[in-house]
Amino acid sequence: MCGIVGYVGPKQAFPILMKGLYRLEYRGYDSAGIALIDGDLKLYKTKGKVSDLENFVKDKDTTGTIGIAHTRWATHGEPNNTNAHPHYSQSKNLAIIHNGIIENYASIKEELMKRGYHFESDTDTEVLIHLIEDIRNNEKVSLDEAVRIALNQVVGAYAIVVISKEDPDMLVAARKGSPLVIGIGDDDFYLASDATPIAEYTHDVVYLDEEEVVCVRKNRKIKIKTITNKDKTAYVQKLEMNLGQLEKGGYDHFMLKEIYEQPHSILDSMRGRVNAKKGIVKLGGISDYEQKMANADRIIIVACGTSWHAGLVGEYLFEDLARVPVEVEYASEFRYRNPIITEDDIVIAISQSGETADTLAAIELAKSKGATIIGICNVVGSSIARATHAGTYTHAGPEIGVASTKAFTAQVTILTLMALRIAHMKGTIEKSRFHRILNELEAIPEKVKETLKVDNQLKELARVFTYTRNFLYLGRGYNFPVALEGALKLKEISYIHAEGYPAAEMKHGPIALIDKEMPVVVIATNKGTYDKVMSNIQEVKARKGKIIAIVTKGDKDVKKLADYVIEVPETEELLVPLLATIPLQLLSYHIAVMRDCNVDQPRNLAKSVTVE
Ligand code: G6P
Repeated sequence: MCGIVGYVGPKQAFPILMKGLYRLEYRGYDSAGIALIDGDLKLYKTKGKVSDLENFVKDKDTTGTIGIAHTRWATHGEPNNTNAHPHYSQSKNLAIIHNGIIENYASIKEELMKRGYHFESDTDTEVLIHLIEDIRNNEKVSLDEAVRIALNQVVGAYAIVVISKEDPDMLVAARKGSPLVIGIGDDDFYLASDATPIAEYTHDVVYLDEEEVVCVRKNRKIKIKTITNKDKTAYVQKLEMNLGQLEKGGYDHFMLKEIYEQPHSILDSMRGRVNAKKGIVKLGGISDYEQKMANADRIIIVACGTSWHAGLVGEYLFEDLARVPVEVEYASEFRYRNPIITEDDIVIAISQSGETADTLAAIELAKSKGATIIGICNVVGSSIARATHAGTYTHAGPEIGVASTKAFTAQVTILTLMALRIAHMKGTIEKSRFHRILNELEAIPEKVKETLKVDNQLKELARVFTYTRNFLYLGRGYNFPVALEGALKLKEISYIHAEGYPAAEMKHGPIALIDKEMPVVVIATNKGTYDKVMSNIQEVKARKGKIIAIVTKGDKDVKKLADYVIEVPETEELLVPLLATIPLQLLSYHIAVMRDCNVDQPRNLAKSVTVE
């Protein structure tokens, strides 16, 4: 959601800001804009894509060595040219970009209107810039001080950047609940919602903390204060991100590239953490808390979207291996239903972006009740990674496609390692099983590579089902979350209605939908409840549904019944999600491409959901 970029330094800002906006497109947005200072404070914005903005400014003056740029995902006011950011202050001396929501904007607006302020847009953001200007004029303070004072009056979440025509060498930014990263170059500064627009210029970054205001000026040191006016020292970290990770590298879409990266991303998630020969699973990030995890009477997993599906796999893993009860909660439900949390609880928060507002709020709630919070995040330095007591990064590399693919398999990999580690400590897993699973885990990246060979088969299948209106996905046990994830992938990017169901539950409702038009994807790999799934397939067949079955290599029985069969290599039952998910990702991808959908940026969706 909303992308922020800022630049100040000796270079021309426009190309840096535009490239930054393109890099942030993946977050999801509906309009874009830019403001530059070169004597004048120029502001250009438009509904639509970053390319529309680029066309719009073609014949305009885009000079200036300082500027801010924004991609907006509408919250207050429809996506149109006026509501797009940046927004001017009343005098047009200041401009602001904002990610987040100012919850008390209505009361501030009313107050400002009484004092003669006019509003052009329907946004909460315009209220904030008028307030900053009002404070600056009335209290005769510097811009950073005016921003700080204004933020003390604000309820809500924000990452903002403000520039002033009267101070054309300075960017003032602040955050609370929405992310902001500062890149420190040789003689310039880059600001952005995440590190992707920054990585090609500098690897020295500062992640702004909650309720901090930063002021960066050309050729000066970075200055950080809290909104309560305490000076802070900037903690400069090294960014581990390379340009190749941010480009499509010959693939048509980021999503396809990310699907194909999975042999590596899974390996990277395990690197240095598993040694099958020595029988070791080691997760350095949680070592101080693993005893507490082993002693826990229950684990609560909180997450949203695809990460929630990974959490469901986690439930099966922890209960199966470590014999500890697990509850998997949608973060948004958990936080609003007065949950029972104690100091003995372990809460595992899973998030690719590390910025999902509901997950972050669920963490804060659980923390306030004394629970221990363990994170599983992909984005290093993200808000969730920093809000947790300890955690394990997935190390899947930047995920740009809005539909999550490699992050999911990396999350499942980490959950497998965590469950194995705790099981080993508790002695709830037999030695032979422990060693067998470790050996199999090490073989998984190769098996993922093998699984990817079904790509052409799925392309063919996508041709058959391009214009189908409904899909049902069925699975049991470890394959139930896989069914949910398969259905989510399809609806996210192809806009086909799809439902995931526990296979046995089908007869309690969805079976009413089955006729010869209805494709049913069944994950029917050879372990666990295979025989039961066979019966469910029979039930679909009896009603003339079309069966697409994901089976284990060499399967004979399902083949006799299914209309289409996709094979995945044999593996341990608990590792099947790492393989069975892949054909489902590819099926969604090819159907979406054939329907001419925007695969990487599906309508209405955002990669990083920073509002509740
Ligand atoms: C959005 C994304 C999904 C993601 C979910 C949770 O809806 O489009 O792909 O699964 O947020 O995001 P997180 O970053 O917390 O995993």
